[in-house]
Amino acid sequence: MWASIALATAVVAFFQFCRNVLQLRRNKAKAEKTGLPVFWIPWTTYGSLSFLNPLIVQVASLIPFISKLKCIRLLDREMSWTALREMEDEYGDIFMIVSPYNITIKISNAELISQVATHRTGFIKPTAGYKVVDICGPSILTTEGEAWKRHKTITGSAFSEKSNRLVFEETLKQTAGMINFWQTQDDNNNKVFTVENPAGDYATLSFNVICGAGFGIPQTWPGEDEITISRTAVPGFSNLLPGTGHTMTLGECLQRLLPNILYLFICPLWLLKQSPFKWMSNIYTCYEECINYFDELVEHARTVGESGRETMNLIGLMLKGSEKVPQNTEPSHSKNAQLSKKEITGNAFIFMFAGHETSANGIHFSLLLLAMYPHEQLRTQADIDRIVGDMSPSIWNYQTHMPRLYNSMVGAVLNEQLRLIPAIPNIPKRSVGDQLVQVDGREFTIPENTFVHLNVVGANRNPRNWPKVTSHITGKDNDMADFVPERWLSKDRVIVSEEKVKDGITDELETASFETYSSTSLVKPPNGAYIPFSLGHRACPGRRFAQVEITAVLSAILQKYTVELDVSAWASDEEVAEMTDEEKRELYYEAVIEAEKVIRRSSQIITLKLSKGDKVPLRFVERGSERFAGIV
Ligand code: HEM
Repeated sequence: MWASIALATAVVAFFQFCRNVLQLRRNKAKAEKTGLPVFWIPWTTYGSLSFLNPLIVQVASLIPFISKLKCIRLLDREMSWTALREMEDEYGDIFMIVSPYNITIKISNAELISQVATHRTGFIKPTAGYKVVDICGPSILTTEGEAWKRHKTITGSAFSEKSNRLVFEETLKQTAGMINFWQTQDDNNNKVFTVENPAGDYATLSFNVICGAGFGIPQTWPGEDEITISRTAVPGFSNLLPGTGHTMTLGECLQRLLPNILYLFICPLWLLKQSPFKWMSNIYTCYEECINYFDELVEHARTVGESGRETMNLIGLMLKGSEKVPQNTEPSHSKNAQLSKKEITGNAFIFMFAGHETSANGIHFSLLLLAMYPHEQLRTQADIDRIVGDMSPSIWNYQTHMPRLYNSMVGAVLNEQLRLIPAIPNIPKRSVGDQLVQVDGREFTIPENTFVHLNVVGANRNPRNWPKVTSHITGKDNDMADFVPERWLSKDRVIVSEEKVKDGITDELETASFETYSSTSLVKPPNGAYIPFSLGHRACPGRRFAQVEITAVLSAILQKYTVELDVSAWASDEEVAEMTDEEKRELYYEAVIEAEKVIRRSSQIITLKLSKGDKVPLRFVERGSERFAGIV
């Protein structure tokens, strides 16, 4: 009997192998018609099977001969970040990858990116790949076509200039809370404080901002007196105490669930729930509490209505008219601009998760890069000084200060950080029908059902779209891999000092939005050349929210403090105090090199961030007491 089973298995395997070879040949022939470079791989880079790819790549990396093979490199789903522009520099900004299962086109070319992203029906979002974040229900992020339009129409109006002002004000309050929290930890004091692992605190800050500004559930930092700061938590949603019937706060719940969200996708819920392994049943508990929290949040908004508290009213907007929609558990496919309850909770979850993790990464990497490049930090501080002087952030004004802070080194730093380390390194699309496109005057057809991969890292670092400048750091013929915020500054820029604003002399930046396109605004790269927020109709609706938040945090921190890499792993405070400038420089370079290695190890767990277990401790010192500025 065993012999028959073995024979049958061999026949099936042989049949499958022949089918795969034929399918691969067919896909290869289709791809070659484009005239682009075509590479083949035996497996797929997309779909549920591709979850095995990290394992395959890791095993292959142990075998020297195999690890060098191009088909193995191409299997790496994080290739755009792990190999930066290696393939693009060798084969060009557009190339195709074929497997027996599908065809993929990888694009770092601005002209083609902009065609793909703006062709609403020809290139759609492959929503199957987003199911993993559908845990509370379908949302604007995970739907397409008519359903997506409904989500977009209803939630879109929440992102207004009025909302940006709320974000600005909430962020400044939260930054004060975070600084106060840091100063009161361990051996820290008001003048010098070390933060071992700041990433978690930036995530808390961003979470608090979206809670307060977006959902009307203000959050406080440990030790903050709610009455003094005139922000009272809504019972059940405070990040200091779990709500009734919960074992953790909403913030803890999200922070524990997000890194493990993949398990909800690959593992049946009953298995997670009943698993004898604590880590698995913990994931289930987080999931269950998360669902309950979002149901309670929607219920809270329904009963409280307009609370008198100024917020973006995200849930309120979604609730309007929703009672007419059957409160089923399934997504509503009706064309009416209303959402079902499940869709409302789905969107609430997405806005909370998309609205905090990405911005937190932006704050984290911006401050880290500024600590690594103290001369850039000095220039940023000089701009902040000219714009707000020593005025307390508690009285900064959104309309007056935000445009000038954004169009200064502060905005330049945030744009440069997102250019180098974008939160989302690849944006997936899928072609619907054969699609004729044009690049550099040449036309070709992207075949139907091709998986399109907009390479954010590859596009952002494409030297073709920026003035050619030799790298001062590496000596390469372009400086695309370097942190150079100045590339964003307009040649004509003028910083209007606070005194001039008081005198009533202002420039044109003080218009309806902080993001202006005048001769004194930040440089605007060609369409499709800089895509950390994607572009076209599926671009990030929270772009300005994030820009306001990151600008406000950086400005408020750097107005008073200088951020340094913590060098205590190499030398004690006393040893540093005894060092010559040359010794300090060498010491700091060692810390910079280590920080660079940690950044390069970053990996994408939903968003690109430091790998699990990695951290770069930072030391914040009151300005004037720096130990390395001017030396490094
Ligand atoms: C630095 C911060 C941020 C970055 C880099 C970023 C980046 C992106 C990118 C690249 C996309 C497109 C994803 C895709 O097509 O797969 C996206 C979509 C989205 N983002 Fe953001 N985002 C940021 C902040 C925010 C904030 C603060 C919010 C909300 C408050 C937000 C809400 C969303 C939503 C709802 C979508 C889905 C839009 C759609 O599919 O129509 N994002 N974001």
